[in-house]
Amino acid sequence: MTSVAADSRRRFITGLSAASIGGLAHGAVEPSHFGAASSLAPAGPGFSSEYLLPPGVIHLNTASLGATPRVVLDRTLAAWRELESSPVLMAYGNAENTVLSAAERVRKRAASFLGCEQNELLITRCTTDAMSIVAQGMRWTVGERVLTTNREHDGGSLCWEYIAQRHGVVVDRIPIALDEHESATIVRRFAAAITPATRVISVSHVISCTGMRMPIAEISALARERGILSVVDGAQAVGAIPVNVKALRCHAYATSGHKWLMGPKGTGLLYVSGEASTAIQPIQWQDGHRYGAESAGVGPQPLVIGLGAAIERMQDLGMTAVERHGVVLRNRAYEQLTQIKRLRVISSPPGPSATAIVACVLPDDIDSMALRDTLFAKHGVIVKMSEKRHFNGFRLSPHILNSETQIDAALKALRAEVG
Ligand SMILES: Cc1ncc(COP(=O)(O)O)c(C=O)c1O
Repeated sequence: MTSVAADSRRRFITGLSAASIGGLAHGAVEPSHFGAASSLAPAGPGFSSEYLLPPGVIHLNTASLGATPRVVLDRTLAAWRELESSPVLMAYGNAENTVLSAAERVRKRAASFLGCEQNELLITRCTTDAMSIVAQGMRWTVGERVLTTNREHDGGSLCWEYIAQRHGVVVDRIPIALDEHESATIVRRFAAAITPATRVISVSHVISCTGMRMPIAEISALARERGILSVVDGAQAVGAIPVNVKALRCHAYATSGHKWLMGPKGTGLLYVSGEASTAIQPIQWQDGHRYGAESAGVGPQPLVIGLGAAIERMQDLGMTAVERHGVVLRNRAYEQLTQIKRLRVISSPPGPSATAIVACVLPDDIDSMALRDTLFAKHGVIVKMSEKRHFNGFRLSPHILNSETQIDAALKALRAEVG
């Protein structure tokens, strides 16, 4: 029997063709140079076979859910088959060759990917789950406060609403304008909003609706100065940009496996720094910091092993190159979007605040949901309509599966529909 323990690195590498990353150009390049450094070749003929997307579909919505490549899916399914070959032994056994042991090794890989210790990392279902574990893993007193922004995704925000309702905690939100890109001003706004009762600052690493990269290291430093915990929602960061949680100096960091990492749906990660382990105590760790501890129960082990494969793929590609690919495509889209008179591009111009997400406001006479549906039905282009509470508009989030040709095709479709 082939053992899950024998993680086949070779299989992943041979499963990756240059075409699978849309002609990704390797080599370390400073983020600020991304705008000028496009040397990408068009996607090669083997490209589409790496994914299960139907031919002709242009998936520009990785920020909602990534397309899992076949190599990752195959690894997930192989682990599932091994699990079912001997369920109890494979799911509970600690020997090297069990599925449980392979899942525990994913924790180690994910920890090294994020720059933390294995014992600081919990595997979760998603970012929302991870954020809830943080909020519920703390002790609260009536009148304590959580400081966040008005641009958080529900997945990073509802946990605080819950704590507010259940424990009488107050949630303060600093406003961030849709087209605001100046990070120093935002840090000053956080500083001014801190009160003696502020316990947590909770903020997205990359704002979901605009793609703005938030100054997490500065916000965490501010939090530390004031004796506050910094909790980061990294759903739109991990797999899109290099992330090192120790360098960011946050206390907790939550992310998803099924977005930019392109891993199995229903996977996520939570980092809780060792120094915050008294303040934040996940119930899952009551019986020890290991995958499948008694206090966590049996988890979706094949999905977790697939997550490990997805992370391994990103490590092989190199996060600097991955980030550059997305940002170059996004900058190409940005340039063309700004030429469409009826659109207002709100995301940052190419530069330090820009990530692979670019978003636009539509004129009032165009409904974002109708546009999204038309783009897919007529052109095979998948975009995300913005949440109406933020604005009537849409977001593109190109990633390593996309090419310059696809960006140009999507923009042609947008010009045809928006004019
Ligand atoms: C910033 C942010 N946080 C949280 C989430 C929720 O992610 P998940 O479904 O993995 O919980 C999203 C999803 O788009 C997001 O953009």
